[in-house]
Amino acid sequence: MSKDFAGKTAIVTGAGAGIGRATALELAKRGANVVVADIHADTANLVVAQIVNEGGAAIAVAGDLAEQGVIDALVATTVATYGGVDVLVNNAGIMDDMSGPHEVSDELWHRVLRVNLTAPLLLTRAVVPHMLSRGHGAIVNTTSEAGLRGSAAGTAYTVSKHGLIGLTKSAAVVYRDKGIRVNAVAPGGVATSLEVNVKQDSMGLAAIGGYMANVGRIAQPEELAAAIVFLASDAASNISGAIVPVDSSWSAV
Ligand SMILES: NC(=O)c1ccc[n+]([C@@H]2O[C@H](COP(=O)([O-])OP(=O)(O)OC[C@H]3O[C@@H](n4cnc5c(N)ncnc54)[C@H](O)[C@@H]3O)[C@@H](O)[C@H]2O)c1
Repeated sequence: MSKDFAGKTAIVTGAGAGIGRATALELAKRGANVVVADIHADTANLVVAQIVNEGGAAIAVAGDLAEQGVIDALVATTVATYGGVDVLVNNAGIMDDMSGPHEVSDELWHRVLRVNLTAPLLLTRAVVPHMLSRGHGAIVNTTSEAGLRGSAAGTAYTVSKHGLIGLTKSAAVVYRDKGIRVNAVAPGGVATSLEVNVKQDSMGLAAIGGYMANVGRIAQPEELAAAIVFLASDAASNISGAIVPVDSSWSAV
């Protein structure tokens, strides 16, 4: 196993489960100090315990990343513990209820946008000064098939993931001469614990349901982690502003 992340520090959000967990474990195996950020302290601590048991280095920071105070604490703890940040994986996310534009509640709209789009902006804003001071950094955002098309989720989730692609491209251009690369993966279906509490009688669900037949093979979280870690690694040194579908060709259908 190559230790190509030795001496580097990576923050992975939503790392207590699913794609984020697999990414944290892979980065740790490859030598990174990993900061496991999740709203659930119990699952974050379990991931840290597994990394440490396997000889790696990790700490957990628990809290709701929708809150600026949690973002500030996450970055401050990371810098105090490991001296800086080399890699940021903005992966934490929540699904919506498949409701369409005329059906979405204010509460759902604000929560989904806050967790899936605003939190990555807040964390990028907090981390970039540390990357600029070192002259390098890599950011990988987990968007979705729903960032590429209008038929893979409800309106709130679809808008949040399209927005995250916009953030990815904007940041890639702004930092292109500063040594910071910014990319995204767009997963199709992945076998995780991502909760979907669908609004059964919604027009959104009725319209989208048929298109989900194109989802193809459901991926394992490790297959997403492999792509995220590649984009974060020096092997992707000339890749920035890319949105990489990891979707069993769903986006090609
Ligand atoms: N599973 C899929 O089919 C799929 C498809 C496309 C995109 N995605 C995206 O992949 C990413 C990871 O999701 P997953 O499938 O691994 O789901 P998951 O539910 O297994 O993992 C998500 C993790 O994020 C954490 N989290 C949620 N809200 C948080 C918050 N406010 N603050 C901190 N942590 C929070 C959860 O506690 C959980 O541990 C998400 O952005 C999701 O939108 C997943």
